[in-house]
Amino acid sequence: MTQEALIDLLKQMTLAEKVAQMLQLPPSFFDESGEITGPMNELGIDQATVESAGSTLGIMGAKRLKRIQQEYLAKSRLKIPLLFMHDVIHGLRTGFPIPLAMGASWNVDLARESARIAAYESAVSGIHLTFSPMVDLVRDARWGRVMESTGEDGYLNSAFAKAFVEGYQGKALEKYRIAACVKHFAAYGAAEAGRDYNTVDMSRWMLREYYLPAYKVAIDAGAKMVMSAFNTIDGVPATVNDWLMKDLLREEWGFDGLLISDWGALWEAVVHGQCQDKKEAAHRAIEATLDIEMCSSCYPQHLSTLVSEGKIKEEQIDHAVLRILTLKNELGLFENPYRDADEALESTVLLSAEHRKVSLEQAQESIVMLKNDADILPLQATQKIALIGPKATTHDLVGAWNCGVLPEEAVTIEAGMRALFPQIEVMDAVSWADELDLAGAVAMASRADVVVLALGEEASMSGEAKSRTVIGLSDTQLKLITAVKATGTPIVALISTGRPLDLSAIVEDVDAILITWFLGSEAGNAIARTLIGQNNPSGKLPMSFPRSVGQLPLYYNAFKTGRPSEDQFEIYRSNYIDERISALYPFGYGIGYSPFHYSDITLSSNTLDKNRSITARVTVTNQGEHRGKEVVQLYLTDLFGRVVRPMKELKGFVKIELEAGMSQELNFEISEAMLRFYDNRGHYASESGDFTLFIGASSADDARKVNFSLVEE
Ligand code: IFM
Repeated sequence: MTQEALIDLLKQMTLAEKVAQMLQLPPSFFDESGEITGPMNELGIDQATVESAGSTLGIMGAKRLKRIQQEYLAKSRLKIPLLFMHDVIHGLRTGFPIPLAMGASWNVDLARESARIAAYESAVSGIHLTFSPMVDLVRDARWGRVMESTGEDGYLNSAFAKAFVEGYQGKALEKYRIAACVKHFAAYGAAEAGRDYNTVDMSRWMLREYYLPAYKVAIDAGAKMVMSAFNTIDGVPATVNDWLMKDLLREEWGFDGLLISDWGALWEAVVHGQCQDKKEAAHRAIEATLDIEMCSSCYPQHLSTLVSEGKIKEEQIDHAVLRILTLKNELGLFENPYRDADEALESTVLLSAEHRKVSLEQAQESIVMLKNDADILPLQATQKIALIGPKATTHDLVGAWNCGVLPEEAVTIEAGMRALFPQIEVMDAVSWADELDLAGAVAMASRADVVVLALGEEASMSGEAKSRTVIGLSDTQLKLITAVKATGTPIVALISTGRPLDLSAIVEDVDAILITWFLGSEAGNAIARTLIGQNNPSGKLPMSFPRSVGQLPLYYNAFKTGRPSEDQFEIYRSNYIDERISALYPFGYGIGYSPFHYSDITLSSNTLDKNRSITARVTVTNQGEHRGKEVVQLYLTDLFGRVVRPMKELKGFVKIELEAGMSQELNFEISEAMLRFYDNRGHYASESGDFTLFIGASSADDARKVNFSLVEE
C-alpha cells in the first residue's frame, strides 16, 4: 500500500477505531477457534473496541493465528489486519542458549544467525514481531532478568543488539523475517538491590554514558519497535516519562517507529502513585508519544474523552495510529494478512536438523571454562565416569522465556554423555529439594576415575520476577560436593545457571568448572562434546562472578575512587573488612584447552589526533595441542578526565580460531571517536591527554599495555 493510501485509510477511521488500534489484547481474549471471547470485563472495555484492537501477543501456531486473523477480519469494517507479537527471546521451537550465554560466546555472527532462525520459525508460525532484543545493561546478579541480557558491558551489549536486530529483521523485513522490539527502555537492568520492578535512580550522566548506548545501536540498526520499562527514571514511570520518550527517543534520537508499553505498565503509573487515575495515565502517555498500550485499558477508556475535552489533539492519536498502520504495511499485511504463516513449512522447519546444528554450535561457544586444574579436562572416552547431580538427567536445560521451546526436546546431559562415554554411571537423586542419597553418590564416586557433578539453578529460579538474595548453590548440592570431595576422585563441576552465581564455597573443592548456563535444545550434546574435547571451550564471562553477594552490584568498568584499594583490606581504603573487592572470576574471563600466547603490543604511533587513527598490533599464538578459539579483547583507560573515568573500558574484541601451533597478527584501529565520553553537563566529546591501552584475554589481564596520547591537531 502506498503512503497516500495509508493516510487515506487513516482518514476513513473513526476516533474509536483509531483508539482501538492502540490497544494490545492479552492472549486470553481469543479462544481456540479464533473467536474473540473476552474476558471484556477484565479490561473494562466494550465488544466493539475489542473487535478492532490493533494487536495481540503470546499466541503461536500458523493454523491458530490464521484462524484468529480470519475471524477478526470478517468483523473488521476497514479490514485492517491484527498484528501478532510474541516473546521469542532465545528461539521459537529450536532453543538457543539464553541471551546471557550467547553474550558469553562473544560471537555476534552466531547470534545473528540464531535470530534469523528464530525469525524464520516464528514467521512460519504466524508471528510478526518479537519482543527482543532485551539490551538492558546488568550489573547485579540478584536480578533474575540478567539471563535475558548479554551482560554488564555496553560495548558488548551494543554489538549483540545490532546482530539480533539484523538477524530478526533482515535488510527490510523480507520474507521469513519478523520485526524486532528493543526493550526495556530504559535502564530496567538497574533496579535497586536487584529487586525486580524496583526503583531505578541514576544520574543522566550514568544513563547516557553506560545504559543508553545499546538501545540506540538497536534503533540505528532499524529496530521497528521500542518497549518502555516498568521502572521509573527520575521518579517518573518510563511509560509516561515525556523526557525519556518524547525528548530523548523521538526528538533527540529521531525514532519514528512504534513505542509500546510493557504489560500493564501504563496502569502501573497509577499504582506507582505518579498518575492520579487511568485518565491521567492515558493523558501523560499520549503526550509522551506512547503508541500501544499492552494489556491494560487506560487508552481505550479515556483517549476519546481527552480529545472531546480538548485536552489532547486527535492529531496526536493520528500520529500513533499511522505508525501502527505503517508497520502493518511494511509487513505486507494489507496484501496478505497471514504473511508467512504456513502449516506445511511449520511442520518441517521448526526444530529442523539444520537449526539444531546452529543451536549446537552456539551452545558450544557459550560454555565458559573457569578452572581446569592439572588439565583434568578434556576427559577420555575410556575413563570411568560418575555423572551425579540434579542436572544429570533432567530436561531443565532450556531456561526461562522459552516461548515454544519444549524442554523435553532438549538433549539431557546424560544422553549427550552416554553417546560419547561408554563407561558412565548416572545418578540424579540429588534434586534441588530431594533428600540426599549421599552414600550412593560416594560409592559411585569411589569407583570412578572422574566425577562429573551436574549442578546449578532450576530454570524457574531466573527470569522475570525471580530475584534472589542468595546466589550460591543449594545446601544439598554443597553437601554433595563435600562428600564426593572426600573420596579423592577428581571432580568436574558443570554449572547450569541463568545468572552469575557465588561459587566461592566450591571453587577450591572441585578440579574443573564449566559454566553451562541454560544452553537450549542441544545442551547435553554441547556439554558432552566439550567434556571430551570435541569442542574446545571458548566462552568468556559477559558478567563478573562475585566472591559474595555483598559485592553486588559488581562490574569491571568501575570508576576510580580517591581511596583505591589493592584488593586486600586496608583501613580507610575503598574496600571491605571481610572480603576482597575483585570478582572471583572477572568480566571477559574464560580458559580453553589451548593456552594462547600474546605478543607485546606495538602501536603505529604514540600520538593520535582527530583526523588520524593509529593501529595497535598484537600477535596471538595457539601454544596448545588443540585447535581453539580465543576472544582477543582491547581495553582502554583514560588517565585523566573532566569527569571521573572508569578504570578500564572494553573498546574492541575479535574472536579468532587457530590451529595448534599457529599464530595470527591482529590490528585494532584506535580513533578519536572511541575516546569520547559524556561529562556532567551532557557534553559528549573527547579530551586530549594520555591513555593506556591493554590487549589481553580478559578484563583483568594487565600483562600487556602501552600508552598513547590524544593531541590537538
Ligand atoms: O516482553 C515482555 C516483557 O519483557 C515483560 N513483560 C511482558 C512482556 C510481553 O510478554
